[in-house]
Amino acid sequence: MATFRQRRPSLMPAALPFLVVLLFLGAVAGPAAAGKTEDLTVFWGRNKDEGSLREACDTGTYTTVIISFLSVFGHGSYYSADLSGHDASAVGADIKHCQAANNVTVLLSIGGNGDQYSLPTAKAARDLADHLWHAYLGGRRRRGVPRPFGDAVLHGVDLYVDHGGSANYDELARRLAGYKGVLLTVTPRCMGDGGEGGVDAALATGLFRRIHVRFYNDTACSFRSEDKRFFYGSWLGWAERFPAAKLYVGLPAARDVASDGWVEAEAVGAEVMPLVRETNNYGGVMLWNRYYDKRDGYGLRIKHMV
Ligand SMILES: *[C@@H]1O[C@H](CO)[C@@H](O)[C@H](O)[C@H]1NC(C)=O
Ligand SMILES: *[C@@H]1O[C@H](CO)[C@@H](O)[C@H](O)[C@H]1NC(C)=O
Repeated sequence: MATFRQRRPSLMPAALPFLVVLLFLGAVAGPAAAGKTEDLTVFWGRNKDEGSLREACDTGTYTTVIISFLSVFGHGSYYSADLSGHDASAVGADIKHCQAANNVTVLLSIGGNGDQYSLPTAKAARDLADHLWHAYLGGRRRRGVPRPFGDAVLHGVDLYVDHGGSANYDELARRLAGYKGVLLTVTPRCMGDGGEGGVDAALATGLFRRIHVRFYNDTACSFRSEDKRFFYGSWLGWAERFPAAKLYVGLPAARDVASDGWVEAEAVGAEVMPLVRETNNYGGVMLWNRYYDKRDGYGLRIKHMV
């Protein structure tokens, strides 16, 4: 994990030491506190055994489901989504069901843990935006662009960029924002743009309405009951930088999901929420991912707390 230590804590507020005092006093002078939203977002598509998209929506636990991932792009006109063996032809009907019957927002995330994506040029970014529009969003059928989910229209696109460099995602965001009604979200690591997969330039466009911050797999900012400073410092950094976006606390849905960041359900209500709801752009909680959440039922246990 040496790579984590080498990364710069670009999001740590300079006033981090003062947080110790504030936390100690239990009084943080922040902006107006946000209320509960019961807004739970979950990633779906990383394990065939997680069950169908429809089943996830029918639990009533989630307000947003993010299909993951469109994992191959930036290589000319070849694009490919990896749904871990789910039957893509069934997904279209499930998307429509989720949207109509459950009022669930359904997004497609691009990127992921693979290394077959990048945006080498501004043109590659614009081409990807056009592809997303015609293949998954509101674009009409265009010759040569198949729609993997048929006529289902997704609400928007999420960026989950861990590899392949950070170039041209700002161009992608601008092009996508030019299309009507596309919700743009991003799911960055909690330390932000220190690694090769930074999305700082994209975020700087101000076009992203939601930021799901991954508070796991990174000891520099994951939540720890015994010392909350690093978590809270990171959260405040995001809140200060992006006051116009809704912020989501990204948590692992089970203890065995990530190397760190697991928070017991009771601690979500007792320890995490009192901190994050101090910021008025608190939006909710994001869970990684549906497979673990179906297995353990974590989302259902925390939903009334968030
Ligand atoms: C449907 O979801 C949207 C976005 O989450 C929300 O604003 C709206 O109030 C919901 N509508 C109903 C009828 O629940
Ligand atoms: C945690 O990080 C490792 C190393 O980068 C990665 O392989 C793994 O997929 C990550 N886990 C999650 C849950 O993101």
